[in-house]
Parts: sequence; C-alpha cells; structure tokens
Amino acid sequence: QNYQVALIVGSLRRESLNRQLAGAVMRLAPDWISFKAIEIGDLPLYNQDDDAKPAAAVQRLRADVQASQALLFVTPEYNRSIPGVLKNAIDHGSRPSGQSVWASKPAGLLGVSPGAVGTAAAQQHLRNVLSCLDVPLMPAPEAFLQAQPGLFDADGGFGASVKDLMQRWVEHYLAWLKRHAD
Ligand code: FNR
Repeated sequence: QNYQVALIVGSLRRESLNRQLAGAVMRLAPDWISFKAIEIGDLPLYNQDDDAKPAAAVQRLRADVQASQALLFVTPEYNRSIPGVLKNAIDHGSRPSGQSVWASKPAGLLGVSPGAVGTAAAQQHLRNVLSCLDVPLMPAPEAFLQAQPGLFDADGGFGASVKDLMQRWVEHYLAWLKRHAD
C-alpha cells in the first residue's frame, strides 16, 4: 500500500536548514511513500471570525492534509518554542471545532538548529500541542540535530556522520506510520 505524508516545515526561510533536513529525509524514504509539501507561508493569521468562510489558502491546507495518511513536522526552534507560522498553521487545521484535519494521523517530528539544544525545547512544546489534537506522535527515537559541517552531503542527502542514525529514525517512523494509519 502507498501512503502520502503531509510534510510541514516550520520555517519560511529560503535557505532553511529544516527544509534541507526534510529533503534529506525524503531521500531515505522507500517508493511506497510520497510527500506532499504543505504550504503555510500564505495562510492568514488565524481569526475565529473566519471559521465560516475560510480563505482559499486555508481550504488548500485542509484538503492537502486530509488527502494524506500521515504527518511529518520538521521545525526550527524560535525562542525555545515553535515558530508562530507553524502554530498558526496548526491552529487553522484544527478548526472549526470538531473538524480538525490532524486527528488520528500518525506523525513524526524532527528539527535542526545551529545551537547545541538542537530544537529539543521546540519539539517538547510541539508534542504538547499535537497531543491535545489527538495526533499519535512517535515518542521515540527522538532526533535533535545540530547543524555542523558535513550534516548534509553535496547532493542534499545526509552526511556519513548521521546517515545511519537517520536511516534508523526513518525505519521507526515508517513502522509507526503503518501501525497507526490503517
Ligand atoms: C532562532 N534560533 C534559535 N535556535 C535555537 O536553537 N533555539 C532558539 O530558541 C532559537 N531562537 C530563535 C529565534 C528566532 C526569532 C530566530 C529567527 C532564530 C536560531 C535558529 O535555530 C536558526 O536561525 C535556524 O537556522 C532556523 O531554522 P531554518 O530557518 O534554518 O530552518
């Protein structure tokens, strides 16, 4: 069976390390997995007044997530939490009440930072948010990546220092996905 994974990157930056991380993970995935990049940069700021008449960008986000069987969040840490743009997207998908697109979709969580914390604090916050949205989020293994020379190779894959580790992470994620998607 083939699965589509909704890929949500928490950075809008052109040269985003986290987008590069997502790209390297995609290269490790087998051909029965496809990825749908979820656009979050053009979403309006969430306003509950608009629930009855959501913007086109919001409808697109909802449709793209609904068409996916699993979720992959790859996010930077901003001030010890997740970026506002990511929280905004999650809030949009969670409403109107009772019509959340996130519920029950198995999810994985990754992040990379130039700092030694490696997005651990942001990931912990995101776990809190996704838990309240009934998202079965893979508890372990966790991956807190520090952006060091050699993290990625010249082709956009993982460098030798992390490749085995990330291959194991992907294998765990795929097992988690299969267990919870059906
Ligand atoms: C950061 N950065 C950062 N890094 C970190 O490890 N912990 C943190 O709390 C923060 N806080 C923070 C706040 C704001 C507003 C910015 C812009 C940046 C640094 C951050 O990890 C770095 O800019 C990454 O490169 C951002 O991820 P992308 O855009 O490369 O994916």
